[in-house]
Amino acid sequence: MIDLHAHILPGIDDGAQSLEMALEMARIALAAGVRQMAATPHCNLPDSSRANYDGPELRRQLNDLRKALEQENLPLELYPGAEVFADEELPRLVRSRRLTSLNDGRYLLVEFGFEEDPDFVTFILEMLLEEGYTPLIAHPERYGFVIRNPELAYRFVSMGCCLQLNRGSLTGRFGPRPERTAWALVEHQLAACVASDCHRAEFRTPHLADAWEVLEEAYGPACPRLLLEENPRRILDSRPVTGLRPFGFRGRRGF
Ligand SMILES: [Fe+2]
Repeated sequence: MIDLHAHILPGIDDGAQSLEMALEMARIALAAGVRQMAATPHCNLPDSSRANYDGPELRRQLNDLRKALEQENLPLELYPGAEVFADEELPRLVRSRRLTSLNDGRYLLVEFGFEEDPDFVTFILEMLLEEGYTPLIAHPERYGFVIRNPELAYRFVSMGCCLQLNRGSLTGRFGPRPERTAWALVEHQLAACVASDCHRAEFRTPHLADAWEVLEEAYGPACPRLLLEENPRRILDSRPVTGLRPFGFRGRRGF
């Protein structure tokens, strides 16, 4: 499997707190069947002491962790990335090229405030598309504006964006409404991929195998293969995702 959303770089956001914890997270990922992972620290997060814009320091930290994995004989391949928070500053940051896209390609993992104004979300997504990025929207099933109005997810995908669901949403970690929304996005063939959004070795871990199991149970093995292998591979390679036949929610009120 390929995990495109992981807070595994140690000591630079609310993810792994030490190198030891990062290595433990890598062991969990490998035991779950994950072989490739994008290291996606929070970037541009409000009220954070670390903005984590792209630069030599972040690249050094990624390479340090790669070396530590090699020394420990942990065959987890790491790719550059970031989870970029969308605010009014984002257009300027995009133009200054200070953001790390997934594997330095065309997909940018972008997150929004949980109660963001949908018009602002649409404005940001259009801006990113115009600048040549394909936005990969992090955990849309957790946003209040999507939960209340799932038709927005259909609109975002129709614009050319992709949706990344969290492993924990499918298993109920974030409560019943994100869980119902996540499953509806899979059912409506709107989700491009599932990732761990892992933060720790003890909770919110990179154990993606449980997402595989519940998806396989619901839809057969082709579904997790698409969402946990095929599309993540395509995203890392900057190729279009496949297998989506999105249809709208036809007036459904929300979850
Ligand atoms: Fe995250």
